[in-house]
Amino acid sequence: MRRIGILTAGGDTPAMNATIQGAVTRANKRRVEVYGFIKGFSSLLNASVPHVHLNPLFTEIPELEATRGGTIIGASRAYVDAKDTATLEQIADRMRRLQIEGLICVGGDGTLNGIQPFAERFPTVLAPKTIDNDLGLNHRNEPDEWERVLQDAPPGYRYKRARSRTTFDIEGMINYGTPGYATSVYVSVEGVQRVRTTAESHRRIAIVEGMGRHSGYIALGTAYGQPDIILVPEIPVNVGALVERVRELYELQKNVVIVCGEGVTDESGRELGAQHPSHDPAGNVVLSGASEALRHLLIEHFGDAYFQNYRRAESAKAAVFTRKVGHTQRGGRPILFDRFYAAQLGGKAVDMLLEGQNNALSILQWSRDKGFYVDSYDGNGFRDRWGQIHARYMHPSFYDKELMRPSRIGIEYLLPIFTNAIGHSDTEVLRQSVFDSGSLFRPFHSVNTDINKRIRYLEQAD
Ligand code: F6P
Repeated sequence: MRRIGILTAGGDTPAMNATIQGAVTRANKRRVEVYGFIKGFSSLLNASVPHVHLNPLFTEIPELEATRGGTIIGASRAYVDAKDTATLEQIADRMRRLQIEGLICVGGDGTLNGIQPFAERFPTVLAPKTIDNDLGLNHRNEPDEWERVLQDAPPGYRYKRARSRTTFDIEGMINYGTPGYATSVYVSVEGVQRVRTTAESHRRIAIVEGMGRHSGYIALGTAYGQPDIILVPEIPVNVGALVERVRELYELQKNVVIVCGEGVTDESGRELGAQHPSHDPAGNVVLSGASEALRHLLIEHFGDAYFQNYRRAESAKAAVFTRKVGHTQRGGRPILFDRFYAAQLGGKAVDMLLEGQNNALSILQWSRDKGFYVDSYDGNGFRDRWGQIHARYMHPSFYDKELMRPSRIGIEYLLPIFTNAIGHSDTEVLRQSVFDSGSLFRPFHSVNTDINKRIRYLEQAD
């Protein structure tokens, strides 16, 4: 292969540029040109295919920095319908005309679902990214455990997981952790630690909502910030037990900090935050308001008198507050763990294309003997018997539902990722750059302005 393409799909993460840089560095070594497609699949859907040559003369462009969050080539949730063969043929033709011989898609489970029709037309592999940490399998047989249950509403069925017959061991996980996850946990840990002091000082109950859709990994990792209670989407909230625990803690320490994943449900399976659901262009449910729903629930249970009697607040509304960590946990500089492994996974994706692999992904594995190492995995190994790829659920054994915290196994899972996740340069950069006096004089200069000058188009638009 002489020229390959790369695109970044779905929501951004702090480590996408690191993945691209890892891919370009490997491609330079192997004398392969890399074109970056602008804004994910949108570029391929556009007849003029906006793209950037990322390594002219086998030297990476200076804008490509592993420490820069987000993605210099832009991302979007645009996707290509697998049934739309006319569009797929147009894309294959555009790739031919650009002499692109293989494609790397940096993405999550949605992107992995989407690359199959490409892989039938040109070699395509995936390099993983997602802050949700839900691209992977708890064990190799997991896709076989999905069942379809008939229902009246379209599409006529829903998916249900059958009881697992595999003995779970963290060593057997496929894609142990995904670039972006560690940085996003780092940001939520900071958020929790900062909210705590306000909760302590003002005798409040703080509910901090993290991202992650239906995956509880971010909430689980936020345990490093020592919240009192963690609620994850995989384990329904027992409202009675929650209220009792909040009461105990509030009476003991005059403040409580709760962390919840945005997709938490009640015991009937209803998503607390889905009171006003919406969808993004790829059909993903956009969740909002789990923390607000929990706040209302606590306000109702405690009532104003409870807080007034203790002279801690004039009303329940004043005592219970919510904060979403939101997009701050998806943006900004990636910490060392994410940068390092993102680059390796990007490099591995290049090797995979050059080895002739197709419809496959690079993965990050962990073993007790070897620690972390990168490997590759067949994309079909992620598919259920109907061809669908599911987001990985956090294994329920990671969570102790009595204590509402990570279990022993959950802690065992977190330690390898986070123990040395922050590098010296991460702390040094804080010291040197946060109060850089130059920032007061210079207006912000967006990398998009520079990349814009490098964008080229497929000359003959169809
Ligand atoms: O999948 C990543 C993610 O950040 C989820 O955790 C979150 O629910 C969603 O994307 C938010 O998407 P958007 O940035 O499009 O609002």
